[in-house]
Amino acid sequence: MEIKGSTNVVGLIGHPVEHSFSPPMHNAAFKKLAMDYVYTAFDVNPKNLEHAIAGAQALGIKGFNVTIPHKIEVMKYLDEIDDVASLIGAVNTIDFKDLKGYNTDGIGAIKAISEVTKIKNKNVLIAGAGGASRAISFYIAEYGADSLEILNRNVEKADKLASDISDSGLIDNVNSDSIKNMNLDDVDILINTTPVGMHPNVNDTPIALAGDMHEELVVFDAVYNPNETGLLKEAIKANAKPVYGIKMLLYQGAESFNIWTGKKAPIGVMEDALVKTLGL
Ligand code: ATR
Repeated sequence: MEIKGSTNVVGLIGHPVEHSFSPPMHNAAFKKLAMDYVYTAFDVNPKNLEHAIAGAQALGIKGFNVTIPHKIEVMKYLDEIDDVASLIGAVNTIDFKDLKGYNTDGIGAIKAISEVTKIKNKNVLIAGAGGASRAISFYIAEYGADSLEILNRNVEKADKLASDISDSGLIDNVNSDSIKNMNLDDVDILINTTPVGMHPNVNDTPIALAGDMHEELVVFDAVYNPNETGLLKEAIKANAKPVYGIKMLLYQGAESFNIWTGKKAPIGVMEDALVKTLGL
């Protein structure tokens, strides 16, 4: 794609950023739709974050994705925060049209799961209570799940997240417990946000085994390296429905693309670019 005087710039800010899969994914989408846009990455030292946002706005940059370590800090420099992103307390997308922040990570997980099942009226169990769990959990509540159970190694962190979600009023039935007490009998959707099974620890014992699962269960693993984690292998063994972590990356990107451009993202080419970049 030719970069011209008229080319619109979007990009990623983080620290570091050089291993990001987002530039190839978005640039493939712009190419497919013949849009005059380019997506690049900027390594921003935390001490320069405020100037980076003001500078980007002054330069007419259209949008940013935001990654570690800036997702929380950056909210201070925005004019507006989307309601759910505000409850989550972190943003991963900025639209410079109105200097507004969004969190498409959680939406990405919802869209990934929505390929195989609706969230509405389902019983959802989420393992982990860190940043990823927080982003996904609020969206699970927003999309009308019947119940949400948050299990974590450190139970106090699960309690705190459950209490924040309960306070939001988005869902009535939220519980927390130790990850040791997992029971999937009445669960419709299991979500793993822990790094258990992530490269290089691919032989970790998965958070749930086939014998704990049932055929109606949907199992989403936010871990995307390896593509098919030990947990997803167990889901396949149990005839349950696996949802791969790469889909969350894909749909969070698609949602950001939509926010910046107002256009529906070309999912197929974005997925192909992701698969190629991640070497899956
Ligand atoms: P992320 O942004 O990916 O959510 P995080 O905020 O560091 O990362 O959260 C990691 C989550 O994975 C936490 O819930 C952590 O549990 P603790 O709060 O008990 O530390 C969980 N986690 C990390 N390693 C784990 C392991 N080996 N077994 C179970 N849970 C683990």
